[in-house]
Amino acid sequence: MRIAVTGSIAVDELMSYSGSFAEQLIENRLDQVSLSFLADSLEVRRGGVAANIAFGLGRLGVQPLLVAAAGTDFHEYRVWLKEHRVDTDWVRISDQAHTARFVCTTDRENNQIGTFFPGAMSEARNISIARIADHTRLDHVLVSPDDPAAMVRHARECREHGIVFSADPSQQLAVLDRDDARSIVDGAHFLFTNAYEADLLAERTGWSARDILTRVNTWVTTLGADGVRVARRDTTPVHIPAVPVRRVADPTGAGDAFRAGFLAGQNWRLTDEQSAWLGCAMAAASLGATGTQTYPLSRRSLRVALRSGYGSAATDVLTPHLVSVL
Ligand SMILES: Nc1ncnc2c1ncn2[C@@H]1O[C@H](COP(=O)(O)OP(=O)(O)OP(=O)(O)O)[C@@H](O)[C@H]1O
Ligand SMILES: [Mg+2]
Repeated sequence: MRIAVTGSIAVDELMSYSGSFAEQLIENRLDQVSLSFLADSLEVRRGGVAANIAFGLGRLGVQPLLVAAAGTDFHEYRVWLKEHRVDTDWVRISDQAHTARFVCTTDRENNQIGTFFPGAMSEARNISIARIADHTRLDHVLVSPDDPAAMVRHARECREHGIVFSADPSQQLAVLDRDDARSIVDGAHFLFTNAYEADLLAERTGWSARDILTRVNTWVTTLGADGVRVARRDTTPVHIPAVPVRRVADPTGAGDAFRAGFLAGQNWRLTDEQSAWLGCAMAAASLGATGTQTYPLSRRSLRVALRSGYGSAATDVLTPHLVSVL
């Protein structure tokens, strides 16, 4: 199965400031703010939803196609992704804009001032899945958070050309209007949301949960520490518990790692439940590390996680597939 992951590629620049923002803001002068903070640390992290998911798939030994837009500064990031078996040949490079960037400073009270610049991501709407499918085999396209016009276009082209696609609208639900939200979800093989996004999706589309289930094959909802619910029209939803984690170092990226594990399971033609086991094991790995492409992973660590969550039934099924974990 050839999986293409569409969505954002971004670089996060995270700074910490040992002072307090509030102490720097002068009352009655808030209409003329001109502040600069002397940060004491800078971390540059590779991210973006599509890049995170493709990275997870690559590490599991599935070679995904990353279909996204990045800037001329993408070179190093490309090398990193290729080293982790991500096919980056279809990443569109803007000749004008930088790769999407999130710059955020956190003060000692954990207050944050952040800015997201979509940059090259806005050009993802110029990418045609249909054109890519003319050149290379595509068995499954994941539509992840991206330039909204790109998300709508990718879903539409998949429907028109009979390419199986899955919808992962996540944080972009906040900016999608009714028609766009409907268009991205309608006809999806898998729909991925977390519990909050499940409610927001119903609100945005104006469809009830039952309506949504008639429009997708399977709806996978992640429930944080409570695991995952897999629902289909006309059957009782299946609940899969999470893999227990000792310490959450950073919650960001768990959802992306889950999707990588789940889709890898699908790639190996495992059941939805078995795929969710691997998804939760990947999410648990990601939760233990700060950053979204920084988690340690090995065949052994995945086996330990699978055994602790689901016993030997899970290790028996999945171990043969974990031969080329990076
Ligand atoms: N505290 C936790 N303990 C164990 N597993 C967890 C925990 N939090 C999240 N997970 C795992 O991560 C998966 C995704 O988590 P969640 O539902 O929080 O996604 P999300 O809100 O989309 O996260 P993200 O911040 O990555 O967008 C869960 O299904 C579960 O397997
Ligand atoms: Mg999420």
